[in-house]
Amino acid sequence: MNRFSVAAAALTFVLILLGALVANFNAVGSIPDWPLAFGRLVPVGHLSGGVVYEYAHRIVAALVALLLLGLFVWLLIADRRGWIKWVGSLALVLILAQAALEGLSVRTGTTATASVLVTHALLAELLLGVVVSLTVFTSPGWVRAGELRSGFPKAPKPRVFFITTAATAALVVQVMLGVAYRHNLVVATTHIVGALVAAALILWASILVVGLEHDRDRAFPYLTRPARACVWVLLFELVIGILTFLFRAGFAHAPHESERVLITSVIHTGFSAALLTAEVMLLIRLYRMVPITEHAI
Ligand code: HEM
Repeated sequence: MNRFSVAAAALTFVLILLGALVANFNAVGSIPDWPLAFGRLVPVGHLSGGVVYEYAHRIVAALVALLLLGLFVWLLIADRRGWIKWVGSLALVLILAQAALEGLSVRTGTTATASVLVTHALLAELLLGVVVSLTVFTSPGWVRAGELRSGFPKAPKPRVFFITTAATAALVVQVMLGVAYRHNLVVATTHIVGALVAAALILWASILVVGLEHDRDRAFPYLTRPARACVWVLLFELVIGILTFLFRAGFAHAPHESERVLITSVIHTGFSAALLTAEVMLLIRLYRMVPITEHAI
């Protein structure tokens, strides 16, 4: 079940990358109908240019929906934890909401409007977060981490929970700001200030979590691995963001005709999804493994 959920998360990641390709190759709305494409299941004869990306995006979205349906049924049958079935159903609801949004916007000709694009991106990030959380809940490490709770004789300062939660929320907001900036809804400064706030919180959260290891004089790779991953992915994300920004500025007259902007922009989106994956893992593992009490040390 865990491998199945990891496959669903990996395919959701691919789906987000394909979404970035659709957006960056200006292929949004290149298939005029839905759920069929040019009136067919396979639009032979139309498969060129932006249609290829848009069609691939639809096919992978359908595969993700099938995997999530399979996972939900599996959770219903084989997992005794009632709450995890709700998480599985949430993943299914989110992918169905994406499909409904796509269907409605294609039929009303509003696919390329900023509100639809931003809502689509928000649902995508939430879906990734929920599917990643399912990979954590179904992993063997989940049970072990519950047992290791006793490795923390005293609860750490509540700050570590607060900052890690705030970092995850700031990251979701920052992704929304990125999409809004991409579609000229906000200015570059907003996205850059958002990046500074999110980066500061992510770094702070990772430092606090790694600090738990030093405080206790004990290795907690279950927590420190995602904490360190967050820092590395964040650094790459910032560098790629700056490169995209510079390339974009160099092609101010037609930013999306530059191949360099296209490539860095797709990588930038990929890293933002990877960063969210690492941060969600860190957050859930933290709440699982570290006891929370009012008595802070
Ligand atoms: C935590 C840090 C960051 C995150 C999570 C993030 C995320 C995103 C996302 C999701 C997009 C939308 C991509 C698309 O729809 O194609 C975007 C766009 C963009 N970001 Fe960031 N970003 C971050 C930091 C930065 C920084 C530091 C810069 C530059 C100084 C930057 C520059 C840009 C540019 C130029 C775009 C528009 C790309 C285009 O024209 O297609 N980002 N960002």
